[in-house]
Amino acid sequence: MELQASIKKLYEDNRRTHGDFQYTVPSPSSYPYQWLWDSCFHAIVLSHFDNKSAEKELLSVVAKQFDSGLLPHIIYWQPQNKLQFDWGVADTSAITQPPIIAYAVWRVFKASGNTSFLESMYSALKKYYDYLLLRKDTSTGLLGIINPDESGEDNSPRFDSSLNLPSKHSVSENNAKRFELFAKNKTCNFDIQHCMKNHFWVQDVPFNSHMVENLNCMHDIALVLGKSEQAAHYEQIQQELKQAMKEHMLHDGIFLSLDSCNNKIDVMTWAVFTPLLANLYTEEEAVSLIKNFLHNNKMFGGNAPVPTTALFEPGFTPTESVTEPAELHPNWRGPIWMATNWMICRGLKKYGFTHEATILAQKSKQLILNGGLREYYSPYTGKGMGAKQFTWSGLVLDMID
Ligand code: GLC
Repeated sequence: MELQASIKKLYEDNRRTHGDFQYTVPSPSSYPYQWLWDSCFHAIVLSHFDNKSAEKELLSVVAKQFDSGLLPHIIYWQPQNKLQFDWGVADTSAITQPPIIAYAVWRVFKASGNTSFLESMYSALKKYYDYLLLRKDTSTGLLGIINPDESGEDNSPRFDSSLNLPSKHSVSENNAKRFELFAKNKTCNFDIQHCMKNHFWVQDVPFNSHMVENLNCMHDIALVLGKSEQAAHYEQIQQELKQAMKEHMLHDGIFLSLDSCNNKIDVMTWAVFTPLLANLYTEEEAVSLIKNFLHNNKMFGGNAPVPTTALFEPGFTPTESVTEPAELHPNWRGPIWMATNWMICRGLKKYGFTHEATILAQKSKQLILNGGLREYYSPYTGKGMGAKQFTWSGLVLDMID
C-alpha cells in the first residue's frame, strides 16, 4: 500500500469516540488512551488529509483541562486495565507533557483558515500557557518539569542523575524510580513549588525550546483574533525566555538542561537540536551543530539517523533487552523516534538547511518502509521496535512535503 494510504488507514483504525469527543490512540495494544503531545502530532498528521478530525482531536485533548490551567498528559476516556495509575484525580493524569499544542492549533488553522476553530481553542490555550509560566524557576527564569514523563522522554539519560540512577541500569530500575517519584508528586498534590524544592526539578532544553516556539504561535494566534495586547505580551515573554536560555543553558555552542541546583547536565541527547526550533542558535553555531553533532558518527550520525541518545554515551541502549519483558523498552536511550526526527527536520528547515532536512526526511521514510509503523527504530539496523500500529510514524507526511 502507498505510504499515505497506510497512514490514513492506521489513523482510522486507531480512532476512538466518546460521546462528542474524538481522538486517536497512539497504539491500540500498548497505548489505549489519549495523550497530550501525541494528539498534537496526530492533529498535524491529520491536517494533511482530514482537517475536521484534526480539529476534533485538539478539542478533545483540552476537554479535561484543570482549573489551574494544566493540560493532563493522559485522558482515560475509556478506562482499561493497562498503564492506569491513580493520580489522585478522576479520569486523567496530573502531570503535563511538552507544550506544543499552540503550534498544532496554528498548523491546523493554517490548513483550513477556520477562525472559529481558533476562537474555540483560544481560552484553553491562554490558560495553559499562563499556567506554564508558574513553572519558572525563581533564579533562572527557565521552566522546570517535576517528573521525567513531563518531557515526553520518560527514561532519557538526561534524567539519570536527577533520579539518582547510574548511567547503566535496567528498565525496571528506571520505572521503579519514576513510579516512586509519581508517589512523591502525588503526596504534595503535584504542587510545583514543593516539587521544585524537594523532589525532582529539571529545567529541560526541549521543554523550554518548545515553549519559545509556542509562545510565538500564541502571538500569531492572538493577532489573527484581533487581540493585539495579548500578542505583544506573548512576544515579550518569549524574548525573556530566549534570553534566559542563552544565559543559563548555553555551553560551548550547545544548549544543556539544568538540574535542581542549576548545574548543566552534561549528557548528550537529541535535545541539543531542539533550540533550532526556537531560533536560539546563531548561524555559525547551527553550522557547527550539524557538522560536529548531527553528522558525526560518534554522536548522532551513521546509517540510520537520528538516535535519541548519542552513540558514545555510556547510557546509550540501541535495542530491546533480551532478558526483560518486551514491554520494558529502551525507549529514549538510543532508538530513533519519528517525532524527534520530525522536530530536527523542522529545525533544519527553519535555518534554511534544506538539503540536510531532505536527506533526514528520506531516511525517515526509509525507516518506515523497512521497519513498519512502529514506536521506534534501531539506530544501527533500522529495525522497527516497541509498540505496533504506532501513529507517530505518520509525521513522515509532514517531513516529505
Ligand atoms: C510513551 C512515550 C511518551 C508518549 C506515550 C504514548 O510513554 O515515552 O512520549 O506520549 O508513550 O505514546
